Amino acid sequence: MKTAIVGTGYVGLVSGTCFAELGHEVICVDNNEEKVKILREGGIPIYEPGLKELVEKNVKAGRLSFSTDIKKALEKSEVIFVAVNTPPLPDGSADLCYVEAVSREIAQNLPGYRVVVSKSTVPVETGKWIKKTIDRYAPEGAEYDVASNPEFLREGKAVDDFLNPDRVVIGVESQRAKEKMLELYEPLKEKTEILVTNIESAELIKHASNSFLAMKISYINAIANICERTEADVQEVARGMGLDERIGNHFLQAGAGFGGSCFPKDLSAFIDIAAKLGYDFNLLREVEKINTDQKKHIVEKCKNTLWNLKGKKIAVLGLAFKPDTDDMRNAPAIDIINDLLKEGASIKACDPQAAANAKKILPDSVEYCADAYETAQGCDLLLIVTDWEEYRNMDLGRIKKALNDPPSIVDGRNIFDPEDMKKRGFHYTGVGR
Ligand code: UDX
Ligand code: UDX
Repeated sequence: MKTAIVGTGYVGLVSGTCFAELGHEVICVDNNEEKVKILREGGIPIYEPGLKELVEKNVKAGRLSFSTDIKKALEKSEVIFVAVNTPPLPDGSADLCYVEAVSREIAQNLPGYRVVVSKSTVPVETGKWIKKTIDRYAPEGAEYDVASNPEFLREGKAVDDFLNPDRVVIGVESQRAKEKMLELYEPLKEKTEILVTNIESAELIKHASNSFLAMKISYINAIANICERTEADVQEVARGMGLDERIGNHFLQAGAGFGGSCFPKDLSAFIDIAAKLGYDFNLLREVEKINTDQKKHIVEKCKNTLWNLKGKKIAVLGLAFKPDTDDMRNAPAIDIINDLLKEGASIKACDPQAAANAKKILPDSVEYCADAYETAQGCDLLLIVTDWEEYRNMDLGRIKKALNDPPSIVDGRNIFDPEDMKKRGFHYTGVGR
């Protein structure tokens, strides 16, 4: 099937490439000419494992192309996805101006029946607004349907999450749109559950799922705070909880809190839309508060280790909001480093992928290093903020020599074992250990 995706970011580029991989003919559209130029020259503007190879393969097969022209893409496609970003506004609500702008441009260029699908994470009832916008700007008698097909992609695993999803959620309001969407996902029919529902349920499934996952993380971080006031170990508690299949062991990793372009944004958007619908979602407000406090607890651990931070040198390992991505959006490292600098500490930092992006966000006083050893050199404390695989495997003997005495570590992601670290002569502090 011929398909167009408007918005070639983390979601749009992965979705478009994977639809091509499934055998469809895809045009990825973006209004950022620089981005389209990079893509046409074979470059990939984002870091996502496995994506580059997949883009090359499908471009070569003639199934994937890039454009800035929505009109041309619409002429050639039966289904057009809206995958532009929906960033948070200062009041926490989702900024849907890009969704509106693209819906209007689609409306003004509708050449015949099309299914207009919202892939971006949007608050419930956005489908209604897309419909209103197209009705308002489309030529007389234009035929179309609106649908919702939310993305459940994790950064760093987005290609695999798309091609091997737990479920595909399709929200439609006509038989014709349903048939088109089922045809699109036909190649995945054998290996996943395809849930067809109405548009508002599909929109809510996304926000409800993301905020549930965020709640799970804040819950285990709250438990970690209780463990720190007893002899309990949160890793053991999480393991015991996770053995109950109704709870499951995923997303029970206590640490420095969650970041990313989704959880913080989706939580605030969900709280906002619920309030607009007359429901005060206090539970999610508490999920946000626990997450904010968790980053402060990490700073407290550094103060408990070093006492005054003024004039102290702290080595920060990991800046991205999680491993296997270069994405710094709402990364816990940002608030943690800014708080440490405010306390008068000086910061050396490293990250295998995100340092370039971090430089654009963090104060210039932060010194960037090539690896963990260079970062640790001459520092009073090593602080682990992102659990990159390479930090799990680093040579702790070299780290111990590089750090000033007494060699101290605050492990914000519990990647090491407290007993082992004590044996190695480190002053070690974990989260909930
Ligand atoms: C996506 C989803 O849209 C968002 O709902 C989800 O919560 C996070 O992932 P993302 O792909 O991360 O957002 O956004 P971004 O990486 O910023 O990509 C958006 C793309 O849309 C950009 O390349 C931007 O240039 C493009 N865009 C934006 C358009 O082409 N037209 C517009 O009018 C606005
Ligand atoms: C999330 C959802 O998982 C995905 O389904 C949705 O489509 C987009 O948002 P993403 O934000 O890319 O994906 O990353 P995820 O792997 O969910 O991690 C989010 C944050 O939670 C990271 O900062 C991570 O460090 C943190 N996290 C995750 C924890 O602190 N503990 C955990 O157990 C799991």
